[in-house]
Amino acid sequence: MTGGASGIGEGTVRRLVDEGVHVVVTDVDQPGGRALADELGITFAPLDVSDPVAWEQVVDEHGPFDIGFLNAGVSTDDARDVGTLPIIGLTDRAYRRIMGANVDGVVLGARALLPAMVATGRGDLVVTASMAGLVPISMDPIYGLTKHAVVGFVRSLAQAFEQDPSTDLCISAICPGFTDTNIIGPEAKERLTDLGVPLMSTAHVADVVIRALTERVQGAQWVIWPGHEVTVYEWASPLTQPAPAEVAS
Ligand SMILES: NC(=O)c1ccc[n+]([C@@H]2O[C@H](COP(=O)([O-])OP(=O)(O)OC[C@H]3O[C@@H](n4cnc5c(N)ncnc54)[C@H](O)[C@@H]3O)[C@@H](O)[C@H]2O)c1
Repeated sequence: MTGGASGIGEGTVRRLVDEGVHVVVTDVDQPGGRALADELGITFAPLDVSDPVAWEQVVDEHGPFDIGFLNAGVSTDDARDVGTLPIIGLTDRAYRRIMGANVDGVVLGARALLPAMVATGRGDLVVTASMAGLVPISMDPIYGLTKHAVVGFVRSLAQAFEQDPSTDLCISAICPGFTDTNIIGPEAKERLTDLGVPLMSTAHVADVVIRALTERVQGAQWVIWPGHEVTVYEWASPLTQPAPAEVAS
């Protein structure tokens, strides 16, 4: 579990512990992660998901894992100087930070966790993408880039899993809309409220993580939007679909 100290991660840790799952909570926020782990009587391991060496240490010390919830993520700092397009104010530091957490964190996590899953023949990865991985998000295009990348990674790895019948591996993405966590600053929360956009609870999103882990829909994108039924977009490759009877050219 990455990014478990706060928000969707924290809500999911609580839900998994209630379900009797043995959880190792990780986060770059050490005081927050330790406090949660102490409260719940579980293990905390410090982990910056963008650091490949730190991933190796966590797996060596606490693995093997049969479930990975790759959830840590950030939005872009300094995304926009007032009155400019978002990219114009983007600093190198802000760009590297979000790519490290949102993209590197998922790839390095899958790379670190999969060998043990392959060895036992079974494993589950659930990745926190976003609605911003499926639709545009003009206020933070780099965030949209990272979440589209994550959805593409999940769908592509799902196809690779499907093509290897020797293992029972499953990967899917959750794609929540706006959720009441620290990633949305107070001003943005106020703007969303003014626009009449409700924020979802982390408990609601955590319920869907549990569904993703129990229903195991390969390559699925679990779309979670306030006031709507949860929708599951399933991965489908045109290469594995029946050929159309006639193709118009
Ligand atoms: N809140 C929303 O509206 C929303 C919607 C869709 C998707 N998401 C995604 O949900 C995930 C969780 O975010 P949240 O909304 O709970 O926000 P949050 O800020 O409450 O939690 C994010 C957690 O990730 C940790 N983190 C950040 N960078 C890290 C790094 N490099 N290494 C390890 N941990 C790191 C933070 O310390 C924090 O505990 C993110 O991937 C986010 O993009 C959030």
